[in-house]
Amino acid sequence: MSEGILVLNGPNLNLLGVRESSIYGNRSLADINRELEDMANKAGVRIEFYQSNHEGELIDKVQQAPEQFEVIIINAGALSHYSIALHDALRAIALPVIEVHLSNIYSREEFRHHSLISPVARGGIFGFGPLSYRLAFLAAWEIIKEKKGNK
Ligand code: DQA
Repeated sequence: MSEGILVLNGPNLNLLGVRESSIYGNRSLADINRELEDMANKAGVRIEFYQSNHEGELIDKVQQAPEQFEVIIINAGALSHYSIALHDALRAIALPVIEVHLSNIYSREEFRHHSLISPVARGGIFGFGPLSYRLAFLAAWEIIKEKKGNK
């Protein structure tokens, strides 16, 4: 049965807390995931986390997601800006996708201004650091509640 939220993180997001902390902050990905897990427990929503530095592994997860989940939250890292393959995978599945970025990609280098995730996302949240993920969780939860209400 497909239930709950899959949170996907792409390349280099395993380095959060260590990497460019002036941009990405001091919190680790484990810290962020713990917060989301707390929110999910309170909401009674199933949540699972997956991070990979490899495009193909993320694509495999996306392809498998419809059998197991109702919504995907994704921070694809740099893949957001150039992965047609990840774009195609997200487009191919019927699940709502919420795009997340810690930083405001539009206020940074020009090569970050274009996202290949946005066209296949229900919506996106960027620029709020770890709060971006929590806001994405709230959006995902609303989508799940909406679906349940429509059954
Ligand atoms: C990022 C923004 C991307 O441009 C960058 O490559 C990342 C992180 C963010 O969360 O702000 O790896 O997705």
